[in-house]
Parts: sequence; C-alpha cells; structure tokens
Amino acid sequence: VTLNDLARQLNVSTATVSRALSTPEMVAPQTRERILEAVQKSGYRLNVIARALRTQKTRTLGLLVSDIRNTFFSAIVKAVEDVARENDYTVMICNADEDGRNEDAAMRLFSERQVSGVIHCFAGGNIKGLQHLQAQGIPLVDLDRKSGLTDVDFIVVNNERGASLAAQHLIDLGHRQIGMIAGPKHLSNSRSRLEGFRRTLRQAGIPTSSEQIEFGDFREASGQEAMYRLLALKKRPTALFVANNEMMAGALSVIRSAQVRIPHDLSVVGFDDAHWFQYLETPLTVVAQPVEAMGRRAAELLLARIEQKQGPTLEVFEPRLIIRSSTGSLDKKKTF
Ligand code: RIB
Repeated sequence: VTLNDLARQLNVSTATVSRALSTPEMVAPQTRERILEAVQKSGYRLNVIARALRTQKTRTLGLLVSDIRNTFFSAIVKAVEDVARENDYTVMICNADEDGRNEDAAMRLFSERQVSGVIHCFAGGNIKGLQHLQAQGIPLVDLDRKSGLTDVDFIVVNNERGASLAAQHLIDLGHRQIGMIAGPKHLSNSRSRLEGFRRTLRQAGIPTSSEQIEFGDFREASGQEAMYRLLALKKRPTALFVANNEMMAGALSVIRSAQVRIPHDLSVVGFDDAHWFQYLETPLTVVAQPVEAMGRRAAELLLARIEQKQGPTLEVFEPRLIIRSSTGSLDKKKTF
C-alpha cells in the first residue's frame, strides 16, 4: 500500500496523507482521524528515515536519566514517554548510572542522532556536551538536577522545603539527636536538601554535629556504608533523614541486620516515595515528589521549545510529607 493508494481511497491529496503522518497538528482533526484509521487498517508502515530526511526532523526526544534502576527515574521515563506518544514523538532513553562519563557519551549520541530536543537529569557530566547540543539548536530541559547551563528550562521540586518538612516532623516528635544521610555534594538537589535540613535544625536551636551527617552518592551501597558509620557513633542519633530512596534501601538493610527497631530505637524519614513503601512491615514516612507531574511537564516544555512557543522557565513543584509508621515520638526511657 502506498500513500497514493491511500489518498485515492480517501479522496484527499497525497500531501494531506503525508502531513497527517508527519505533522498531524497541521491537518484538521476529523480528516486526520479518517486518515490515521485508514492507514492503520491498510498495514501501511511509515519510513521514518525517509520522513526525517524530508522534514529534517527526527521527532525523537532524547531523555537522559541518572539511574534507570531507581523508581524515581522509571516514573520519569513513563511520564515523558506518555507525553511523547500523545504528540507523535518517540523517546531515546539513555542511562547515566550516576556516572558523568556515561552522560557525556549520551550527549554525543543525542547529537549524532539529531534528536529534536533533550530532557536531561544531570549526573556529573561535562557541560561542554550540553553546550554542543545547544550550539546545534537542540533545545534542552534540565530536570530534577541543575546542569549549570543558563537558558534552559528547569523543572525541579522544592528540595529545601522537602528536607525542612522532614526535619521539622522529627523535631516536632521531640528528637534532638537527628542524623542525616545526604547525597553527593556535586548535585544541586542534594545540596538543597542538606541546606533545608541544616536550616530547620538551626532555626529550632538544635546544633548539627558534623559526625551525624554522612554523605552518600544516591546509590544503595553508599546508604549502607553511611548507616554503618552512624550506628558506630558513641552518641547515635534517635532520628534519621535519608536524602533519597536508594540510600534509604541501603540504610534499612543495615538497620534490620543490626536489629535496631523502627521507630522505637530510631525514627526514619526518607526523601522520595515508592508505591510499595506503604506495604512495608513498618510503612515509611517520606517526603514525596510529584514525579509524574514533573516528568510530564518537562516533556511539555520541551515540545513547546521545539515548536519555539516558549522561552526558558523555572518551574518548582511542591513536595509533600507523608507520615506513616517509621517515625515516632522520642522515647525518653530508651537506653539506645
Ligand atoms: O533517587 C534519586 C534522587 O535523585 C531523587 O531523589 C531525585 O530527586 C533524583 O535526583
């Protein structure tokens, strides 16, 4: 079946059939529906390479996630792909595995494949790769973590406020020995979470001791190592804020093997929710990000930039504290 056959059968021009497939927004909705239905029935397969050559557009969004095994980023992938599908775009996904070198390689790939735009979750890569994409006229949206580029859209949660909600919750429960497993210092969201935590303790007149703040790299193993160090302290914390879900998994495994009871011996609050956290034996108190909404908005902004409808914007989403059972009031009698 050729485009000409379809055009004859539908009594429209070949150009209209072609437009319905390559730039559907330029065809009246009714005609477009009729054409797409006929195309589907006929078994016609679009040659996307020929289309890209003809239109000079790949209709592909590059999406770089920092760690694809992390459920935060799988939710981002789903949301971005949903928006892309609704707009007849496809998504090329690359995983940095929290390694800047993989991020740099992904930027080169996006450049070679001439993607229409890039959603970028920074993992410590070189800003030059991003500047190169910009020089090619490929629009970028930073998501979740700042790359350091100006003139890009940026979608982020209010990290400082999220950390502050967590810290204030622990303070309200009577805790004064509050530890934190923070993320890596080179990531903007990680720095903001640490800042929000410190500020809230300071405002409550609680001194933060540096030995109660451990740093990880947002991966599970670093959460384990940090937790070992915290449990080895002479003056252990009675409450703990963990700055992401992956490090939380590591911390929990150590807490469990050390037979520390949550929340009786240690109250725990994490940053990032996962739908199964509520089903744990001790459901986790968390600061949740509106991940799907953030992913969708990043894709919408990028599409707007591709169509040149919008300039760079900063959109900050609000986090939410979800109180479950892993936090409790300070038990004065505990010997821990
Ligand atoms: O777990 C990944 C963390 O890194 C999340 O909190 C998210 O904000 C991302 O940056």
